[in-house]
Amino acid sequence: MEFKTWFEEKVSLVDEYLQHIIEVKDNPQKIIYEAMNYSLLSGGKRLRPVLLLGAYEIFKEDLTEALPFAAAIEMIHTYSLIHDDLPAMDNDDYRRGKLTNHKKFGEANAILAGDALLNKAFETALDAALSGNSMNKIKALLIISQSSGTEGMIGGQVVDMEGPSKISSIEDLKYMYSLKTGALIKSSLVAGAVLGGAKKTEIKALETYGEKLGIAFQIKDDILDVTGTQEMLGKTIGSDAANNKITYLTFKSMEESKADVEKLTEEAIGSIKVFGSKAKYLLELAKYLTHREK
Ligand code: IPE
Ligand code: IPE
Ligand code: MG
Ligand code: MG
Ligand code: MG
Repeated sequence: MEFKTWFEEKVSLVDEYLQHIIEVKDNPQKIIYEAMNYSLLSGGKRLRPVLLLGAYEIFKEDLTEALPFAAAIEMIHTYSLIHDDLPAMDNDDYRRGKLTNHKKFGEANAILAGDALLNKAFETALDAALSGNSMNKIKALLIISQSSGTEGMIGGQVVDMEGPSKISSIEDLKYMYSLKTGALIKSSLVAGAVLGGAKKTEIKALETYGEKLGIAFQIKDDILDVTGTQEMLGKTIGSDAANNKITYLTFKSMEESKADVEKLTEEAIGSIKVFGSKAKYLLELAKYLTHREK
């Protein structure tokens, strides 16, 4: 199977699963279901769920048991995007090709829709953990929760918002990236491996791959904020400059930044060589991300 087909198959599985997760009930709080689905079902690359399924697939063939966890991580990611776009944070008007959640539903509903997606993520994964090999599922959920919190995505967003007072070197910046973006990317892979019953050394290899890939992904995100188009990315270009954000390009030139994305990607790939052909799609995925335009 070609990489593109592999990727599209995973995205279809995830999209089909997400489609039915938030039921729109005709009750007084109906707007919350609509706001949640508005952002969750509006596309997005589905990178994190694909990484989770890709890691799981190294160890197990049937992906059914991993799907609720793949969906959970996408719901957490989507919540982080809704909040990231709020006026108090990056103040952005477009996301995934549409108006941002707060532009469409108002700030209060956008905040609540983010909160609700976070809750729904845990509800979905916990419900799944009640059946089958519960211990690995509970472990996976713990990994996902830690990566979303103060030592993970939220911690990184805090440092990002603090800005120059906390980021004065490229090391500081990479620390922030490893949390705000790297943590969820890494935990997708580690959770997938744990769910699949991987050994410690195997988990470690995927963890290293995730660490490198996460930083490379955020550098590329910074590059695309300068060189991309709104049409391709589905979000407003130049958001970082408008917010006077410290990005990778604050410290390095465009050429150096691109070279660092390549270098980190090669390192990521190197760490999963141990799996041989079993990791061929994860290997190709890392390469694909270096020349992504969205
Ligand atoms: C955007 O993530 C936020 C970052 C962590 C850079 P993605 O680029 O994965 O966004 P979607 O999910 O495809 O919309
Ligand atoms: C956001 O980083 C990371 C998150 C945790 C959501 P950015 O602020 O650069 O992401 P975009 O460019 O808005 O997608
Ligand atoms: Mg941001
Ligand atoms: Mg942003
Ligand atoms: Mg960005």
